[in-house]
Amino acid sequence: MLFQSLRFKISVVILFLLAVATFLFSVFTVRAVDDYILNEVLKRAETVGRSAAATAAYSIAADDLLGTDNVVSRVKDQHTDVDFIAVADNAMKAIAHSDISKRGESLGPLTGQLVSMDRYGAVLKGLAGEFEVLTPISFVHKQLGYVMLGLNKSILFNAQKRARNSILKGFAAAFFFGVAGVLLLTSIVTKPIAELSAGVMELKKGKNRPLKVYSRDELGKLTESFNEMSALIVEQKDKLGRYAGELEEAYISTLRVLAAAIDARDAYTLGHSARVASLSLKLGEAIGLSKEELEELEIACLLHDVGKIKTPDHVLLKAGRLDNSEFREMSRHTEDGAEILAKAPMLMKYIPAVKHHHEWYNGNGYPDGLSGDAIPLSAAIITIADSFDAMTSTRPYRNARSEAEALKELVRCSGTQFNPGLVQVFIQVFRNEHEGFILPEVI
Ligand SMILES: [Fe+2]
Repeated sequence: MLFQSLRFKISVVILFLLAVATFLFSVFTVRAVDDYILNEVLKRAETVGRSAAATAAYSIAADDLLGTDNVVSRVKDQHTDVDFIAVADNAMKAIAHSDISKRGESLGPLTGQLVSMDRYGAVLKGLAGEFEVLTPISFVHKQLGYVMLGLNKSILFNAQKRARNSILKGFAAAFFFGVAGVLLLTSIVTKPIAELSAGVMELKKGKNRPLKVYSRDELGKLTESFNEMSALIVEQKDKLGRYAGELEEAYISTLRVLAAAIDARDAYTLGHSARVASLSLKLGEAIGLSKEELEELEIACLLHDVGKIKTPDHVLLKAGRLDNSEFREMSRHTEDGAEILAKAPMLMKYIPAVKHHHEWYNGNGYPDGLSGDAIPLSAAIITIADSFDAMTSTRPYRNARSEAEALKELVRCSGTQFNPGLVQVFIQVFRNEHEGFILPEVI
């Protein structure tokens, strides 16, 4: 998400600070420059006023009205920023004025805000923003009148406006370069971080891709450390995987030995559990069990008769058919098996298969009389494989049946003892394994 990215957050914060700083600096600079321009204009006006007052002083003293007119017209002609100039007597009556129609008029009383005042004169600001400079005319320590200068405010404002435009353009350019710099900087800083984040996500999925080191700074060192760490993690993971595989192999081998030892008590059941496992795995694969389910099914097969370890020899090894009491004794191996497995938490998951591998599809089996889909799938598979192997193995009281006969028996008992769907698949497995194999009375 763009809005949640580190680059976005850093960019927003820095750009906000940059925008605020640029705005404040531009405002202060504009004000400072406005004040500077105004001061310069006023200083110049005061100088012009003093110069005019000095010249006008001789003309007034000599009562030379032409001279005062001459002063007024010269100043007006030479200074475009002077709106008007007037020479007045001490009663503020205009002796000379750049606007001839105002000659003889009274220039007072003065209105507006006093900006500054000293012995050389005063500066007033009018209500419309215009400035007027009043300079006393003195001759031999005697005040003869005033020179009044009106400044052209539009020239002043235009000068300030031009200065403002230049300042704002400068700050806009600085802001633009600042934005570009921020984006570049955040890209440089956040790119390695984004790649580190992607590397961590890949590492979580078990992939190890060395990340590119962009610099020799702290971020570069962090990336190098990450590369070393992820290589180490993947190596350790591989090692652990190998150890786990070896441990599992050892564990299954131990169970195979245990199953073989139980089978070996009776010469007729030698190798029975291994064969049941082989048949069950074929059936399990055919119905689409997963790799993990097949691994569990194999172990369940190896353990399915573990309870027979408690079955007395006179019952387990009896050459003839078992009577009712002996059959009950033999039947106990399902519950005995469950009881043995319950002692090891690691083996408890195989209890359903071991306990119920003698249940019948119609509910006539043991120990709990489960029926239909209530019988665990692994137990229903083992039932078929177990019975098929028993029928195709020689017993003291009968010879081995052929595979065809055993399959026929499975079909006959399908729906009563065996799960009919599983029997169908089991037969299909045989068909596929023996191409052209015909089971005339079965199919
Ligand atoms: Fe059994």
